[in-house]
Amino acid sequence: MSTRRVTILGGSGFVGSQLTYRLAEIFDEVVVLTRRAQRVRALKTIINVQVLEVNVHDAQALNDALAGSSVVINLVGILNEGANASESSFASAHSDLTDKVLTACKVNGITRYLHMSALNANADGGSSQYLKTKGMAEQKLHDAHASIQWTMFRPSVIFGKHDAFFNRFAGLLRALPIFPLAVPDAKLAPVYIGDVCDVMINSIDDPGAIGAAYELCGPEDFTLRELVQYTADTAEISSRIIGLPDWASKLQARVMEFVPGKPFSRDNYLSLQTDSVCSEGTVRQPTSLDAVVPQYIGTADWSGRLQKRRAAARR
Ligand SMILES: NC(=O)c1ccc[n+]([C@@H]2O[C@H](COP(=O)([O-])OP(=O)(O)OC[C@H]3O[C@@H](n4cnc5c(N)ncnc54)[C@H](OP(=O)(O)O)[C@@H]3O)[C@@H](O)[C@H]2O)c1
Repeated sequence: MSTRRVTILGGSGFVGSQLTYRLAEIFDEVVVLTRRAQRVRALKTIINVQVLEVNVHDAQALNDALAGSSVVINLVGILNEGANASESSFASAHSDLTDKVLTACKVNGITRYLHMSALNANADGGSSQYLKTKGMAEQKLHDAHASIQWTMFRPSVIFGKHDAFFNRFAGLLRALPIFPLAVPDAKLAPVYIGDVCDVMINSIDDPGAIGAAYELCGPEDFTLRELVQYTADTAEISSRIIGLPDWASKLQARVMEFVPGKPFSRDNYLSLQTDSVCSEGTVRQPTSLDAVVPQYIGTADWSGRLQKRRAAARR
C-alpha cells in the first residue's frame, strides 16, 4: 500500500496544532507548512510529523511542498491585516492563497482538499473584509469543483485550551476592573475544537462530504455579553462589564487598532454586525462550554491559581 500523506497549511495555529495531533494518528505522514518553523517546536516531536518552512505564497515553493500528498488541508486565516507585508492582507491570506493552493493541487494531481472558512463568509456581502475575502476563497472552491473534491468548514468562534477567545477575554478582564465591551448583543455559538477536529477528520474519507459545506456551532447560542460574563464568573474575576452603544463600539474599534496586538479592530466590529450562529436545522456539535472552559480559565486550573496568587501579591 502506498504511503498516505496529508499536508496542512496553517497547521501551526490553534486549530492546526490540535488537528495535526489527530491526523498523525491516522496518516503515515503529516506535513505542516509554516513561514517560521522555529515557532512550531512541539509538533516536531511527533514521529510522523514533518514541519517544513515554506513561503506558501510562492507558487513554485508551494507546488514542490505539496508533491506526494494525498490530501491537502488549508487552515490559513487572519482576523487582522499585517502592517506591512502584502502577503498579510485579507485578500492575499484568504482568497489569493486559496487560488494558489488549488492550482498546486491540480499541478500535483491531488484531488482531496479540506478548506477552513467561517460562518457568514460572503464574497458579495457586508463590509467586513475578513468575511468578504473568506467568501471569495469559498468561491474559488466552487469554481474548481470539476477537478478538486473539496469539503469546507464554516465554524462560529472555536474554543479550547490555547484559544484566542476565552483566554484573551480572561486576560483583558484581569487587567480592567471596569470592562467596556463593544457590540455586546452580537450572538455567537462557540464550538469546541475537539468537535471541529472530529468533523474534519471524519469527512476525509467520506464520499458524502465531497462538495459539502459544514456549519459548525456548539450546543447553544450566546450574546457576547453573556460569554464575557461567563469568562469573568469562571475565572472568578470581579470586573464590571459595561456594554457599549454602537457609536462607542465603533470608536473603541478605531482606538484599539493602535494598541499592540490589535485586540479589536474596525473589521472585527464589522464582522460582529452579523450574528455568528448556524442556520436553522444545522446539527449542533455536542461539547458545552462547561465541559471544557473551566479547565483552562477556571481557578481550578494551575495557571488560574498562579494568576490569583500574583494578583494577591501585588495588593
Ligand atoms: N479560532 C476561531 O475561533 C475560528 C473561528 C472561525 C474560523 N476560523 C478559521 O480557522 C482557521 C484557523 O484558525 P486559528 O484560530 O487556528 O488561527 P491561528 O491560530 O491564528 O493560526 C493561523 C495559521 O495561519 C497561518 N497564517 C497566518 N497568516 C498567514 C499568511 N499571511 N500567510 C500564510 N499563512 C498564514 C499561520 O501559519 P504560520 O505563521 O506558521 O506560517 C497559522 O498557522 C482560520 O482560517 C480561521 O479564519 C477560526
